[in-house]
Amino acid sequence: MALRITVIGTGYLGAVHAAGMAELGHDVIGVDVDERKVDTLNAGRAPFFEPGLEPLLAKHVGSGRLRFTTSFAEAGEFGDVHFLCVGTPQQPGSRGADLRYVDAAIDALAPHLQRPALIAGKSTVPVGTAERLAARLAAKAPAMEEVHLAWNPEFLREGFAVEDTLRPDRLVLGVTSRTDAAVLERVYAKVLQAGTPLVVTDMPTAELVKVAANSFLATKISFINAMAEVCEAAGADVVELSQALSYDERIGGKFLRAGLGFGGGCLPKDIRAFTTRAAELGAHEALNFLREVDEVNMRRRSRVVDLVRELLGGSVLGAKVAVLGAAFKPSTDDVRDSPALNVAATLHLAGSQVVVHDPEANANAAAKFPTLSYAATAAEAVAGADVVVLATEWEQFTSMDPVELGQQVEYRRIVDARNALDPQRWADAGWAYRGMGRPAPT
Ligand code: UGA
Repeated sequence: MALRITVIGTGYLGAVHAAGMAELGHDVIGVDVDERKVDTLNAGRAPFFEPGLEPLLAKHVGSGRLRFTTSFAEAGEFGDVHFLCVGTPQQPGSRGADLRYVDAAIDALAPHLQRPALIAGKSTVPVGTAERLAARLAAKAPAMEEVHLAWNPEFLREGFAVEDTLRPDRLVLGVTSRTDAAVLERVYAKVLQAGTPLVVTDMPTAELVKVAANSFLATKISFINAMAEVCEAAGADVVELSQALSYDERIGGKFLRAGLGFGGGCLPKDIRAFTTRAAELGAHEALNFLREVDEVNMRRRSRVVDLVRELLGGSVLGAKVAVLGAAFKPSTDDVRDSPALNVAATLHLAGSQVVVHDPEANANAAAKFPTLSYAATAAEAVAGADVVVLATEWEQFTSMDPVELGQQVEYRRIVDARNALDPQRWADAGWAYRGMGRPAPT
């Protein structure tokens, strides 16, 4: 049976969740303080690039099952279940999480909760936040103890967000009562019917599952990038090493791609916030290794800049560098903590003439780094380049023909910062090729 659902916050997580809830058959209102975003969404358009999202929005805005508003009063009056999907970025000047948007959402919604409702937090938060928010809610909601809080972390990946919402690997429900779990099981009835594993637990465990998962993924990436550093020192090949490791089923091959490392709005800030929170709780040493994970990751960015310098014979000053990619990974326009843009900005600061091209993220990148130059096409970016850096492995870049590209550049030099190209093929086409953690082809 359809429930009346609201989704507070319509960023990468909330917009997809709102559309996903409508697809599961519910009546949904998405809420955001940004009026322009709300207008865009109400027109059935996605305010950012996410494959598959726009058709879903258009379908359900069209069917009348999904609408967006800036009014918390409307949301409070409407919803049986309210999903909290606002951002929890890194706090400026600290490594901890900035919870101001979560607190503001609770404060804006609570006074309008006149009848029983369940608030389900989806945002990634430091463990203990749910308990604090429950008290805040109880103090401010007119319906008081009839308003409950649960934690239901989200594991979607940008670029696959629709798929991950409708067909997640698992559902985790952190609840204080069986009744609240039953409400969320109704919300996800179709997902559960499809056989999705379900873990019902307490709120702190649910909060922790999310940061533990992201920390594990970050650790796996930094592990293979640490191996890349050793391979560089030993003259070995991390791509072949990773392949050999992956056949061990206990290790597996996913998230074992060495390269420029992880970025985005989640992994980097989550490992930092997790370390900070563990220390606050008295588990000072438990997550020390995550600092190393972070450092290995950041060193890969410097490595790419060093490889560019090496290919240019020692100095990047005045060199024309084409950076292919600005998004933190392919299939998104998200440039938050993007390794690609970090490399581009560092080269620019060191005096290179950097031209960036990304198939989807040019506009977001230009808003963040207006001093860099942006090209509308890859061909335009590489025209006359002294060196090319492949920084985000979009398919249109990894499928480039080295012979054709060779005719457009000034010098055939490439840093494959994502190990996404066939080194021998590029060397055969006359390119000086440098990968990450692998010897240069001869
Ligand atoms: C990540 C998690 O994968 C999701 O499960 C989680 O829900 C999400 O954060 C979140 O907390 O909201 P996402 O940030 O979309 O998802 O990106 P990932 O696909 O995890 O990639 C993160 C970074 O790792 C990218 O920069 C990617 O290029 C890099 N990466 C990934 C590698 O360098 N090597 C790999 O082998 C895999």
